[in-house]
Amino acid sequence: MGINIALDGPSGAGKSTIAKMLAERLGYVYVDTGALYRSIAYYVISQGADPKESGQVCPLLSRIDVKLAYENGTQLVLLNGEDVSDKIRTPEISMGASAVSAIPAVREFLFELQRSIARENNIIMDGRDIGTVVLPNADVKIFLTATAEERANRRFKELQEKGDSSTYQQVLEDIKQRDYNDTHREIAPLKKAEDAVEVDSTNLSLDEAVEAIYKIAKDKLNPHKDDTIPKKHEPKEVAKIRPVKRGKKLNPIRMFLYTALRLVVKVIFRCWFNLSFEGTENIPKDGSNIFASNHRSYSDPIFIALPIRVPISYMAKEELFEKNVFFTWLIRFFGAFPVTRGKGDTTAIDTSIEKLEMGRNLVIFPEGTRSKDGKVGKGKTGVALVAAIAQVPIIPVGINFEGKLKFRRKVVVRFGKPLRPEELAVKSANPKELKVLKNRIMDAITELVH
Ligand code: DC
Repeated sequence: MGINIALDGPSGAGKSTIAKMLAERLGYVYVDTGALYRSIAYYVISQGADPKESGQVCPLLSRIDVKLAYENGTQLVLLNGEDVSDKIRTPEISMGASAVSAIPAVREFLFELQRSIARENNIIMDGRDIGTVVLPNADVKIFLTATAEERANRRFKELQEKGDSSTYQQVLEDIKQRDYNDTHREIAPLKKAEDAVEVDSTNLSLDEAVEAIYKIAKDKLNPHKDDTIPKKHEPKEVAKIRPVKRGKKLNPIRMFLYTALRLVVKVIFRCWFNLSFEGTENIPKDGSNIFASNHRSYSDPIFIALPIRVPISYMAKEELFEKNVFFTWLIRFFGAFPVTRGKGDTTAIDTSIEKLEMGRNLVIFPEGTRSKDGKVGKGKTGVALVAAIAQVPIIPVGINFEGKLKFRRKVVVRFGKPLRPEELAVKSANPKELKVLKNRIMDAITELVH
């Protein structure tokens, strides 16, 4: 994928002139998508069909082959091999393009062509729906506007230079009509993408508008470095694998105390709840494992820890440590470590790996929050990231109870067969492998919830 800059906005805001100048300055390819809609309109009109009638336009699409070519940095539009670049710049074709662009089959017809150009090149693409539909993941999104009067003024001057006899009033009416069409059509209407930066060019000269957009692009693509805009995406850093040495022995006195207290809490929990465990033969005897579980209640870490010999650790939101003294003591005793939310994932990931290195087991709830309806959610990749970096087994856990957790509620905790990153060929922490591993973990948890 090249670097993609999406430039959307209404007709006559100066998109094409600005995009061309920017493309030249950056050495990117300029893609004028309006020209594609124009060439369809041109063909439709040349065949005597009505661009507003989808019944007349659609059957013609199979006869159209439209391509963009570049000659000395200038974009040429080739319609069935013929260069129509100039012929598509008339007021009649402008209106026709606005009409055909409201037909879903036309948009679909041009969609893949636009995407493929963006995949292969560093581009500035101008249009109406680039930031919203065609390239929703564009690196930079600009929404360029200007008042209808100012836009009509600019277009009027352009047409006069070409010898066109349209009056200012006609041009203004055309612009207003096209604005209406483009913003009111059902499919991919002209609108600012949520993450686009709006630039109003009404009172800006051409150079000022180019400079403003260049600066926005530079700040997005190269925020802290020099004054240049990159020609390539910097490769994303992939976390390094650091396999944890397993089988580390924990301090025997602490282990003895932990075992004694765990058994006491087990008796209390068994009295309080109708609690049973299944699949405990899947729990490894040593530590440094990840237990990945669905999340139903604040008692979940304790339910999981009760049948496991080696102490567990788990992340808990900071607020939980501010509850009553007994609760705080209990969760600390069962290995909770506080995570300040919003501090960034790396601290939590590093702490998790430290705990595994110490020989403790780690409990992770991949869904992040408690499930209200008992269904297993999608899960985040953090669990796969820790497992891939540390290369430790993941034991899926399913916590089952009906409704709310209350006195004497039947609770079944099921432990599944360990998943091992090395057996699943997860040998790095690249996003694709992590997603596969995360999905495997979530599937295994879901099988244990019934
Ligand atoms: O940018 P332009 O004036 O050359 O565009 C001609 C028409 O094509 C415009 O009225 C709306 C339509 N268009 C569109 O719907 N989506 C795009 N990405 C580009 C243009």
